[in-house]
Amino acid sequence: MKRTHHCNELRPSHIGQTVTLSGWVHSRRDLGGLIFLDIRDREGRTQTVFDPSGLAKELFDQAAALRSECVVSVTGKVRHRPAGTNNAKIPTGEIEIGVAALEVLNMAEVLPFPVDDPEAAGKVHEELRLKYRYLDLRRAEMLHHLRLRSKVATAARVFFDEQGFLEVETPTLFKSTPEGAREFLVPSRTGIGQFYALPQSPQQFKQILMVAGVEKYFQLARCYRDEDLRADRQPEFTQVDVEMSFIDREDIYALIEGLLKRVWKTALGADIPTPFPRITFEEALNRYGIDKPDTRFGMELADFTAEFKASTFKVFSGAIAAGGVVKAINAKGLAGATQGQIETMTEYAKGFGAKGLAFIKVEGGEWKSPIVKFFNDAEKQALISKLKIEEGDLILFAADQWLTACEILGKIRLYCAEVLKGQGKLVIPADRFNFLWVIEFPLLGFDREQNRWYSSHHPFTAPVTEDIPLLKTDPKKVRGQHYDIVVNGVELGGGSIRIHQPAVQKTVFEDVLQIPPDMVAARFGYLLEAFKYGAPPHGGIALGFDRLIAILCGTPSIRDVIAFPKTAKGTCLMTDSPDTVEPKQLRDLYLELKTAKIA
Ligand code: AMO
Ligand code: AMP
Repeated sequence: MKRTHHCNELRPSHIGQTVTLSGWVHSRRDLGGLIFLDIRDREGRTQTVFDPSGLAKELFDQAAALRSECVVSVTGKVRHRPAGTNNAKIPTGEIEIGVAALEVLNMAEVLPFPVDDPEAAGKVHEELRLKYRYLDLRRAEMLHHLRLRSKVATAARVFFDEQGFLEVETPTLFKSTPEGAREFLVPSRTGIGQFYALPQSPQQFKQILMVAGVEKYFQLARCYRDEDLRADRQPEFTQVDVEMSFIDREDIYALIEGLLKRVWKTALGADIPTPFPRITFEEALNRYGIDKPDTRFGMELADFTAEFKASTFKVFSGAIAAGGVVKAINAKGLAGATQGQIETMTEYAKGFGAKGLAFIKVEGGEWKSPIVKFFNDAEKQALISKLKIEEGDLILFAADQWLTACEILGKIRLYCAEVLKGQGKLVIPADRFNFLWVIEFPLLGFDREQNRWYSSHHPFTAPVTEDIPLLKTDPKKVRGQHYDIVVNGVELGGGSIRIHQPAVQKTVFEDVLQIPPDMVAARFGYLLEAFKYGAPPHGGIALGFDRLIAILCGTPSIRDVIAFPKTAKGTCLMTDSPDTVEPKQLRDLYLELKTAKIA
């Protein structure tokens, strides 16, 4: 019996037709001597009715033996549901099928968890869902994620094609390059002691494609990073990867704004306003304490360094004397925080390097705080006017070096929003998408432990042209031509205009990053050589595709939008990977295992 329709197709206009449906038994109800089976396929479900009076006993008994998730084909006539039994919740809710024939295609054992009940599914432990991922994916919610992912991938491909881009696949067996995250290595069978590395991104290949004259490249690229996993990180993930020649930053902003406009329209039917606002790295830190600010709510950081320079509160004046700053936020509505809650918050802040978390509770017309006694009238007035202090507010302070103070309050700002949410005060509107370009990142950061500079983004990012002379004299001041695209506090993507002059690239590797010349030659020699044969100016970006889909689906974890994700430990519970291999396989690769951990 071959299906004639899918399970979301039949309407009153089909009444009288004989049809065949195939799918899974979604649910079974036995009522008044009849058996009702809801048959489900990828598209939806349809009610079928087995009536013993019109059916061979054998067939009816077969239906009676079926349980949820058995696979069947049923044939019968489409008819109206009896008056009063329509189901307005499903598109096929006005009709049913009076079954004449049944073919049981396969039986199903009792499932480890139900797939038909969204409520119950939310309570299933994620490990169980991952072990039986094929069952988890049968749930309507998960199927919706897969569908949306596929739709967005297609929309992106169409968009890039219209814009004249070529989709080019780059190798996933690459070589080790010190580019950032730890790499996955693949031993070679032919080169003894040699390894491939799985690429962290197609960065170098896409730049080489520009040297090759491709001009406009994109790829939905698999990337691999052996890093500690979180809700928004997987060891293998997908990037919407882009590179263009003869362009500047504005071209990338316009392209990505166009892409996201198309994607939001396709996926959600929503019009997002463009161009997106831009904010410099410094302003983002100053106002939100983070380089990926969630601008859907205020609670912005205010600076009091000038006001507390000569404060009698030594914690503040001391921090300023040491070259630091004093900053504060106003957590409106949190004055009721208990001593215990403030202690918990302080411990949380200490996890990010805070030495303490001075506070003022504004309650009953009073400022309750162990430190108010140190403040003079001018200082109090400055607090009132900059923080718009009112009854019910909780003011929180960080006195530290600029970056540390900003980052502490950035974390505390988000923490307070969560606490308020827990109290039913939604400070972050859920139905909004706030896009933002973060620009003018510092090109370099300084690693105190290793006493050397590192690239904030990656070593191929071009410095802002007028800052190039500072590379050798004052690296801290050099701004990179780097940009991040942020939405609702999530770093969706990042990219840059690249260095295309071999001499500048060599300076960055050897003089700034202090990579020994022989290592530069071994790891990046081919790239520097390629740049010698006519490299066009170029730049690009990569968006985290999994993060993009998670945002569109409104789920906090990218695991929910990846068909077969890994656990936080990097394992696949369904296939039991990673796994041991046969001794012969190791011999073929010239590998020998040490059973004890190497120190
Ligand atoms: P970057 O390292 O910033 O840039 O990565 C770009 C985007 O990829 C996503 N992403 C991840 N998604 C899921 N799991 C992970 N482990 C993970 N790591 C990163 C993020 C991030 O913003 N080659 C450069 C891009 C360029 O310069 O063009 C790059 O890879 O959304
Ligand atoms: P102390 O004088 O150390 O008892 O601190 C008084 C208050 O200031 C306490 O609430 C501390 O949590 C807070 N505090 C201490 N150091 C800092 C700092 N660097 N920044 C902000 N608050 C601090």
